[in-house]
Order: sequence, then C-alpha cells, then structure tokens
Amino acid sequence: MLASVTVRAPAKVNLALGVGPLRPDGYHGLATVFHAVGLYDDLVATPLPEGSGLQLVVEGEGAGLVPLDGSNLAARAVQALVPHGASTDVSLTIRKGIPVAGGMAGGSADAAAALVASDALFDLGLGRDRLLEIAATLGSDVPFALHGGTAIGSDRGTNLTTALVRGTYHWVFVLAEEGLSTPLVYREFDRLHEGVTPIGEPVVPAALMAALRAGDAVALGKALHNDLQRPAVTLRPHLAQVLSIGHEYGALGGVVSGSGPTCAFLARDDAHSVDLAVAFTASGVCRTVRRATGPVPGARVVDQRVDT
Ligand code: C5P
Repeated sequence: MLASVTVRAPAKVNLALGVGPLRPDGYHGLATVFHAVGLYDDLVATPLPEGSGLQLVVEGEGAGLVPLDGSNLAARAVQALVPHGASTDVSLTIRKGIPVAGGMAGGSADAAAALVASDALFDLGLGRDRLLEIAATLGSDVPFALHGGTAIGSDRGTNLTTALVRGTYHWVFVLAEEGLSTPLVYREFDRLHEGVTPIGEPVVPAALMAALRAGDAVALGKALHNDLQRPAVTLRPHLAQVLSIGHEYGALGGVVSGSGPTCAFLARDDAHSVDLAVAFTASGVCRTVRRATGPVPGARVVDQRVDT
C-alpha cells in the first residue's frame, strides 16, 4: 500500500448560472457553465493502523470555519467509498488555498480530492464515471471539482458536458469578510421571485459559449451572468459597491461567484489583473484579493509516497 497520496483540487467560478424553479427534492434545476481556476486545496491522505478512525486536520486561511466532524465533506467522501473497499482508518490533512464559504466550492474540492486520494490509496480502481456518480451524492459541485476545465452543468449542476474553450483567462477574486450560506441565497432567490415573476427553465447563454469557443475575453466579460447575484447582493448590499469598482477599473466583466459572497472579475491580461487587484486592495471594500487563471484541471494526484 502507498504511504501517502497528495491530491490537488481547484476552485470554481460559474461563468453563467441560470437557476430554475425549486424542485420537489429541495434543489433548483440549473443551467450553468463551471470554470476551474488556479486556487487550490491540497489534501494529503495517509493510512492509519486499523481501528484508528478518521483523523482530520485543516490548515490555512479560514481553517477554523471548516467542520472537523462527520459533516465534513472530505470525511463524507471517504465514508461513501467504504462499500467500495476504502477504509476510514485514514488521516486527511487539508491545506486550504480556496476561500472558505466564498461560493468557490472549496468544500466540494476537498470532497473530490478525498475521493481521488482514497481511490489511489486503497487501490479501488474506480473509474472516472463511477467517481463522478459518487461525487454527485456528496454535493452539487463535487462532480465538477473532479472534472475541472470548463463544463456545462445541468440538473443540480451534477450532469456535466465538457465545453470547447480556447485561451486562458485572467481572474481577480475579491473576498468578503464573512461567508454566505448557499441554502440561504437560494431561499432568497425564491423569495425575490415569489408573486413577482415566475421562474422559467434556465438556459446557458449562447453568446457566452461562442465567446469561449472563440477565446474572446471581451465577449466573455460581457456575457458573464449569475441568477444568484441579485439574492446575494440583497443579503450583502456592499457587494454592489464591489461590482461597481470592478467596472470603474476596466474589468471586462464582473459577477458574484456561485452563491457568493466572492466576486469574480475578468481582466484583459496578467498585467491588468495585477492593476485590478491593487485597486481592490486600496479600496478597502474587501477582506483580501486573489488572482488566478483558468481553465485548470480537476482533482488529481500530485504526489504519492511508497513505504521504504
Ligand atoms: O448540493 P449542495 O449540498 O452543495 O447544496 C446545498 C444547498 O444549496 C441545497 O441543500 C439547496 O438548498 C441549495 N441548492 C439548490 N439547488 C442546487 C444546488 C444547491 O437549491 N442546484
């Protein structure tokens, strides 16, 4: 058996997030375009002697906000693989590089990393498709954290189709003081529509897909769209100011990332992303700023050690 496995999993931003009506199962149907960006969580999995149980350590910014009990998504991922031969006698160390509760799917990245790590550590031989199915039982964003790149997501966001993308995009992520709860933002979305406008079936914007195919960052910036932006801004009104600063400093586009409160801004190039990051830092409207490019690959093994 391997002595340890390290898996790196990326954050995501939704380039488009169309939300449909609330379904009887408590979820909303989505038409979304996921894009994996170069902010990562690293997970190191090490087998422990029989009977030790699962030990979880989380390090890095915001680590204190991550649950360490059985509700942790990475712990649940290991548990989900027990019927397939995984052992819960394992130590998981997660180094957070993805903002916690930021709408960038950090918890889902950890779950995807734990699936890939357990598959390697316990030599389960689960194929990509089987792992994607198990990922969907853990959370709506977990399959994409495995998939990576850029993909259209339908159903709860769990049904993925790889998108044709040219080029590399330069992003600036503006992080807020306090996280936002995903269920709360979806509830606010429902509340804002109640008795006002019926919620239609969501579609992926054709202009956005054309921009990605052409590698046209200017067109992509214009086409960014998120149906959860209004509810997120209603819950956190200062996000409106963050979005307008991005516009003022020439971002090609700006959008709330997923359910927020992180805001994502598309820069013209690397130098422009530095200018934008400096402007946001100086503005004092945010906790911190990160730069990253996308697309990047999904959760993958970056190091494995054998017993010597
Ligand atoms: O699947 P996940 O655990 O990430 O979802 C968290 C919550 O977000 C769900 O319980 C639901 O309230 C909301 N959600 C939704 N529709 C989706 C995805 C999430 O309503 N497609």
